[in-house]
Amino acid sequence: MKFFIDTADIDAIKELTATGLVDGVTTNPSLIAKSGKKITAVIEQICKIVPGPVSAEVTATTYEEMVQEGNHLARIAPNVVVKVPLTFDGLRACKTLNEEDVMVNVTLCFSAAQAILAAKAGAAFISPFIGRLDDIGHEGMDLIADIGHIYAQYPDFTTEILAASIRSPLHVVDAARLGADVVTIPPKVMYQLYKHPLTDSGLESFLADWKKTGQSIM
Ligand code: E4P
Repeated sequence: MKFFIDTADIDAIKELTATGLVDGVTTNPSLIAKSGKKITAVIEQICKIVPGPVSAEVTATTYEEMVQEGNHLARIAPNVVVKVPLTFDGLRACKTLNEEDVMVNVTLCFSAAQAILAAKAGAAFISPFIGRLDDIGHEGMDLIADIGHIYAQYPDFTTEILAASIRSPLHVVDAARLGADVVTIPPKVMYQLYKHPLTDSGLESFLADWKKTGQSIM
């Protein structure tokens, strides 16, 4: 299972990449806006830190403009993955960009039907949004299961399932249980994954006992 970090915060990307557990990064227009930087500058910076796939999203809504923006973003670095929304024009752009050897992440996926279209359009990644489905009273994780089941019937579908809109460590674990290829995790949730109160209390008592011995390892 691959871990992508869902942020455009350079400091967080640097700190988390140093763990050696980060395989890529995803951004979206809201995350770029939050960074306060120009999209080309911030994507270029991220691509220098992370050698794996870095998703950069188009903001055009027509096919022609999406392809133009996609090519522009793809030229920033070889590891840029162009993100397009799951719309009629977005999927057309996905097909064209894929034929031009540009990797595409199809985003804002909320149904299995949409995921089938993305696979047929040659998407490298499909991004089902778990948290946003949960927010409206649906079981977001059911969509991961459904897409996984469907894609498994068709070996010619090479699209990877990228669980997105992750809000908690439980989302990460459930996505892993269901065999999602990738999970994109906000920094806050990435840090939460490490935490367990029994780890903290266990370490505290080990260190207290060790101190009493007066020993040192080195
Ligand atoms: C990732 O590619 C998405 O842009 C992101 O996971 C959306 O998350 P949100 O629903 O928390 O905004």
